[in-house]
Parts: sequence; C-alpha cells; structure tokens
Amino acid sequence: MQLLWSVGSDLSAEPCACSATRSTSVNARTGPRVPTRSGYSRRAAQHARPHGRSAHATAHGDGRGTISGNGHPAGAFADAFAEEENALLRARQRSRLAGVRAVSPATGATLRLLAATACAKVVVEIGTGLGVSGVHLLRGMRPDGVLTTVDTEPDRQQLAREAFREAGFAVNRARCIPGRAADVLPRLADGGYDLVFCDGDRHEYMRYLAESLRLLRPGGLVCFEGVFAHGRAMDAAYQDTEVRELREVLRAVRDSDALVPVLLPTDDGLLCAVKRP
Ligand SMILES: C[S@@+](CC[C@H](N)C(=O)[O-])C[C@H]1O[C@@H](n2cnc3c(N)ncnc32)[C@H](O)[C@@H]1O
Repeated sequence: MQLLWSVGSDLSAEPCACSATRSTSVNARTGPRVPTRSGYSRRAAQHARPHGRSAHATAHGDGRGTISGNGHPAGAFADAFAEEENALLRARQRSRLAGVRAVSPATGATLRLLAATACAKVVVEIGTGLGVSGVHLLRGMRPDGVLTTVDTEPDRQQLAREAFREAGFAVNRARCIPGRAADVLPRLADGGYDLVFCDGDRHEYMRYLAESLRLLRPGGLVCFEGVFAHGRAMDAAYQDTEVRELREVLRAVRDSDALVPVLLPTDDGLLCAVKRP
C-alpha cells in the first residue's frame, strides 16, 4: 500500500516514504487498558462493543485490511473511553441488525463535544440512520435545541425517533425529514444553523459542503463522516470515483478561505471545519 502524503490539487498521490502498513487487527487479550468508572481494568478491545464500525475492525479484525483510525489500538481505546448509555447501545444494536453503519462511540463523543462547544441550538444531520449520531448530537446541544435530520429511509427514521425517545428527549427536540438531502437542504433557511453533520451519500459530499456554507451561521461547524473511505482515500492505489470525490472534499475544505479545517483520525475520518465569521 502506498500512503498519500497529500491531497494536493493534482491528486498525484505521491507515496509516503513510510509506506509500511500498520497492523489493523488488535489482539483482544492484549489491547490497551481502558478507564472504567471503578478504575483502569478492562481491555479496550474487549470493552469496545461491536457496532459496525471500529469495534468490529479493531476487536475482531474483519479482514478488510484497510488502514484507518479504526484499525489502530488507539481507536479501540477511544471508543472504550466513550462509554455509551443503554439507549445508545440499543440504537447501535438495531443499526447493526439493519446493516446501517452508525458512527463509532468516539466519533459520537466528538460530535457531542462539538455540539456542546458551539452551544448548538439548531443542527442539521444528513443521514439519520437509526439515531445513534442523533442521540450524541442531542446530548451535546442546548436543552432547547432542535435537531433537523434527513434520511431517504422513513423506516429508519421511525426507529431513530424511538432511540431519541428512549434516550429521554422530548418529541419536539428532533425534526425527522424523509427525503434526499439534495432536495431537502435547499429548503432550509440561510445562515441559521450552528452545526451540519454530513453522514449521507458520500458522492454528494461536495454538494453538502456548498449547502453547509449557506446554512451555517458565522462560527458554525460542518463535519463529514467517513472521509478515509476505510483507508482508500489515503492509498494511492485507489482512484475510484468515490475516493476521488472524497479527496476533492478534503481539498476543498482545507483550501477554503471561508473555513478553519481539521481532519480528525477518529474511526473512518471526521473532517470538521468552522465557518469563519
Ligand atoms: C451511515 S448511515 C447514517 C448513520 C447515522 N448517522 C448514525 O451514526 O447513526 C447513512 C444514512 O444516510 C442515508 N442516505 C443515503 N443517501 C442519502 C441521501 N442522498 N439523502 C439523505 N440520506 C441519505 C441512508 O439511508 C442511511 O440511513
């Protein structure tokens, strides 16, 4: 595997000198110790729950052979650190059974922190799924905040509503809009949103970026989940459409004068940026 050192404008994919692969599997018995409420005892890989993303890859090794945050023991450790409540664990379980990839616990905790940092009152989520990321966002938002969440699958949104209810949120805290993001986002108001979380169709991320710049207030945040594409985005060997489109988003966010960006190596890569005032 040749690692990209850059997502530069020519996408020339110059290989990194350190092209050696990092191990992607974690021995569950030798994984890092994690903090528990009663002290440091459990092993991260044992504690990391299978949730369709990092725990699956880290704790059990799924043979995907990819390099990303989800293959490093630190990923399992960060997931284990982000202990989740029962309502979230149930939503995660339902997501797994439905074959929907929920955000990892560490990514969820990051979203929660970002929502809290922004004192977010109005948040847009693209890709409701079964509500795992939504619960995390709602936990970080102001108590009177409203999450507007869009998904093409109303059945999933029904289960997400159930997750929000189980997590203790009043019905009016979440507005679930069924439909394609490309159709729904243009109907949302300019400049009023504190945070936009993008976890829908990877092929539409450039479009979500344009809409986010319009939707966000100055100082608001946009986050894109899954920009590593399970390691393919940083591997010069991959030049498929999705990977090229994700690199275009990475480049556009990094180079935008309107944004202050960071790429967090959480699970499958969380690209975040603040809209400059
Ligand atoms: C990865 S899942 C979202 C998981 C969710 N964010 C979570 O962590 O619990 C992606 C979701 O995006 C939805 N989706 C796919 N394409 C979409 C589109 N064009 N517009 C809106 N939602 C879309 C899918 O139906 C799916 O539920």
